[in-house]
Amino acid sequence: VSTSVCIIGSGPSGLLLSQLLANAGVDTIVLDRRDRAYIEGRIRAGVLEQGTVTALEEAGVAERCHREGLVHDGFDLSFDGERHRIDLKGLTGKTVTVYGQTEVTKDLFDRRFAEDQRFYFNVDNVTPTDLKSDSPKVRFTHEGEEIEISCDYVAGCDGYHGVSRQAIPADTLRTFERVYPFGWLGIMVEKPPVSHELIYAHHERGFALASQRSKTRSRYYIQCDLDDDVSDWSDERFWEELALRLGPDTAADLQTGPSFEKSIAPLRSFVAEPMRYGNMFLAGDAAHIVPPTGAKGLNLAVADVRLLSRALIEHYTKGNDAYIDSYSETVLTRVWKVERFSWQLSTLMHQFPENSPFEKRMQRAEFDFTASSEAASRAIAENYVGLPLE
Ligand code: FAD
Ligand code: DHB
Repeated sequence: VSTSVCIIGSGPSGLLLSQLLANAGVDTIVLDRRDRAYIEGRIRAGVLEQGTVTALEEAGVAERCHREGLVHDGFDLSFDGERHRIDLKGLTGKTVTVYGQTEVTKDLFDRRFAEDQRFYFNVDNVTPTDLKSDSPKVRFTHEGEEIEISCDYVAGCDGYHGVSRQAIPADTLRTFERVYPFGWLGIMVEKPPVSHELIYAHHERGFALASQRSKTRSRYYIQCDLDDDVSDWSDERFWEELALRLGPDTAADLQTGPSFEKSIAPLRSFVAEPMRYGNMFLAGDAAHIVPPTGAKGLNLAVADVRLLSRALIEHYTKGNDAYIDSYSETVLTRVWKVERFSWQLSTLMHQFPENSPFEKRMQRAEFDFTASSEAASRAIAENYVGLPLE
């Protein structure tokens, strides 16, 4: 079997890349160790940067997002119940859109299937080889059969636990990591959101986030211990804790109900360098992870794919390899800035078990400064709506 670009991973990165390349007439094959229903069901990100929506427009899959997505002009930071609004639109002229990763994935799958994209789902033992040659190969098992794909390029869009990054030899790959000493416990509930905008809350008892998926569906998170299990958290206990952390004024508007999803995610900052090895490129979570504070994970993946698709399209349509050669460096410069923002906002908003009273006062002072300084608020707004591509 052969193709121009073999895409490993059918999450948002892999799907969007295949769509953008297809639109330019570049052939791809997409593999995933899971199936479509599983991938569409994974509840993850919920906030899209303006540039992410533009990327969906460019791909031709933004119609439902424009119809059903909620445009937000701002969000709140809350400290011990005191709220400061970051006026995204006023400070930057840009907005964000609340539209779930599940929906982005559905829209992309619908389109790829309508265009007869070649997929292999439920694959095993995926092995990229000959990456330094002109004819890289990807071998895998599919329905008991051994398959080998030969291609010009491999796109490693297989997430943090994927095989692509691991195919880069240890003497070439450098990784940078910070693991946070807590997790996020998230629930989804069929109730209107507590506020029409998101609230990121710092509280003595830990971080909390009030988010949403629609006018009738809410997504809430609270900071939890790493060794907590979802079974430790009944809905009742969750609501009680969330109300305390949001503070009485905000909690007065909280509508509770039975959760229909509940899960715990660890927090991590991670970057792998370089993002190109021979004729293989990494994009999205395969190359980097941010802690979820600031909603950057999915948006960062989309930015990578925009730059990677441009590089590949220039190669195929104009024979120009300049963007291929600069891909890793260009992307990583932006990745590190987004890592910095996600780390900073996480550091500001959470309770760290090791923090001394001095560090707690530093957090409070940073909030007070932000609330009193338009420049500080704008710096947060600029990052939140999304940094320029390059
Ligand atoms: P993924 O979505 O991870 O897709 C990778 C795909 O590759 C998967 O379908 C996987 O099955 C497949 N794959 C893996 N290994 C192989 C293999 N060996 N062979 C073939 N296929 C393989 N971001 C936010 O902005 N806000 C959030 O609230 C948020 N919450 C999150 C919660 C969790 C639990 C996780 C894990 C992530 C969360 N993120 C969040 C991050 C965001 O969801 C990711 O940044 C985004 O999914 C990245 O997309 P991707 O396509 O690069 O990777
Ligand atoms: C959501 C997740 C985030 O990490 C974030 O910063 C904002 C919203 C969400 O899942 O809705």
